Amino acid sequence: MPERPYVIDEMISAKTIAARVEALAQEIETCFAGTDKLVVVGLLRGSFVFIADLVRELDLPVEVDFIETSSYGNAMESSREVRILKDLRGEIEGRDVLVVEDIVDTGHTLAHVLHLLEGRKPRRLKVCALLDKPARREVEVAADWVGFEIPDEFVVGYGIDYAQRNRNLPHIGKVRAAE
Ligand code: IMP
Repeated sequence: MPERPYVIDEMISAKTIAARVEALAQEIETCFAGTDKLVVVGLLRGSFVFIADLVRELDLPVEVDFIETSSYGNAMESSREVRILKDLRGEIEGRDVLVVEDIVDTGHTLAHVLHLLEGRKPRRLKVCALLDKPARREVEVAADWVGFEIPDEFVVGYGIDYAQRNRNLPHIGKVRAAE
């Protein structure tokens, strides 16, 4: 549990997210049209709601797999060291792969995962991130599709947590200390 009381102010409504997910899926479908199989790789745990909504909008032959990387722990600060806690179950060599990330923040997680997956020689490797905080970037990495660019705020909801809480919020909200 977080040590200090906090409140969550809505930043992106559930309706706005749904509309954006639909639009992203259309673009992804166009990009991968004709694929024999698209392996959608979710980065656990923050992407689980996003990936569930996104794949249901994709009219493509899709397989879903997951990677889990080390997280922030209970802090709001990004840890620079990225470790793989759970690897993919399937092979991706010669496959079309879409990595689905909740937030690109400093970029360390995505850069690490992309480096790892590129080494496995996929046919195409693309990235869809729900949120992007470009102001926080420390390594040069970019998603091919971004749901929403947001300012340097700590956010929760729609799968994203603060100290493992608030993942079940249907919208995205920003966290601030309670007065
Ligand atoms: P990065 O390696 O700094 O880009 O961090 C990426 C990961 O940090 C994301 O996948 C999130 O799990 C987590 N993260 C970054 N910003 C936030 C936030 O505002 N709220 C909750 N988790 C965050």
